Amino acid sequence: MSHAALEPITLRGTTFRNRIWVPPMCQYIVEKEDGVPTPWHLMHIGSFARGGAGAVIVEATGVVPEGRISPRDLGLWNDEQRDAFAPIVRFAQSLGAKVGIQLAHAGRKASTHPEWGTDGSGSLTPDEGGWQTVAPSAIAFEGLDAPVALDTDGIADIVRAFTTSARRAVDAGFDFLEIHGAHGYLIHSFLSPLSNHREDSYGGDLERRARILLEIVDAVRAEVGEEIPLLVRLSATDWTDGGLTVAETAQVATWLGERGVDLVDVSTGGNVLAEIPVGPGYQVPAATAVREASGVPVAAVGMIDEPKQAEQIVATGLADVVLVGREYLRDPNFALNAAASLRVDVNYAPKPYHRAFR
Ligand code: FNR
Repeated sequence: MSHAALEPITLRGTTFRNRIWVPPMCQYIVEKEDGVPTPWHLMHIGSFARGGAGAVIVEATGVVPEGRISPRDLGLWNDEQRDAFAPIVRFAQSLGAKVGIQLAHAGRKASTHPEWGTDGSGSLTPDEGGWQTVAPSAIAFEGLDAPVALDTDGIADIVRAFTTSARRAVDAGFDFLEIHGAHGYLIHSFLSPLSNHREDSYGGDLERRARILLEIVDAVRAEVGEEIPLLVRLSATDWTDGGLTVAETAQVATWLGERGVDLVDVSTGGNVLAEIPVGPGYQVPAATAVREASGVPVAAVGMIDEPKQAEQIVATGLADVVLVGREYLRDPNFALNAAASLRVDVNYAPKPYHRAFR
């Protein structure tokens, strides 16, 4: 049987031990609401590293306090946060995983109840610790409070915030960075014509709607230098007529590739409520289309729950990397177990657990 998913991949100078990675998954567990990682994050990130993941991408982390989805999100806008990340990163690296972080601004979907979508209820009021959200245009996400449209100074501040957070991430020891450009958060809301009605140089045709993303990528690359792999997560389609399309996303990926982005992490949706045909591997065709049109390596994500499915995606060239989210929550040893079921001898079970993985 082939074992392409368990083959290493190298981006810039960084070699990942396999291609079965953990995507960012918000934990909403920072009780102190200061954005500082906690023992939970050490356990959470460390458990996937112990379980054989090639890489773990830390959850959406606010580049400014107002960029958090909820007050209980992680942040990386100060040195205390940076210094608390450092030992978590070192620990996961000591278990053989590469560790990345998703730098994020939630835009018009910020300031929500931490359990929104389960048992919470939409936007937080100021009394509950909520804040005024910002966006390309003053158009609310359905069910949330209206944002204020950013002016160009506000956009420049956000580009700078991504840059200083990227610097702190590198100083904390992260191996690579991911910019969150998906799921209806700030960057996606600029990319999509459904949420961006601006008439200045940040709105209009695709190149203008992509301008904030391209400025962030250029500024982050200039700040962190040439060695750090840089990923961008995009929502390839809004699943809605008149919304962002896979063809447009492929064009954005081409521009990103020209600017030295090393891999595009292809998700979908999140900018408007839409009917999404969810099923096993449902976003893989979008990843493959982006890869074929742009020539940029891609990660596929979304209901990739089985080792053989992961293997088929990588072995047949549909994507370069697979991201396994909820299945990794159910089974933090997913990669080690996948190796066993694909009959690949990997040598990275941690020493104290060797007798269980022979
Ligand atoms: C997510 N997802 C997500 N995506 C993202 O870009 N940043 C994030 O912080 C989060 N947070 C998050 C939390 C939790 C608990 C879940 C389950 C999901 C989406 C995630 O990265 C992934 O794209 C989806 O879960 C689809 O993959 P699976 O779970 O079907 O393998």
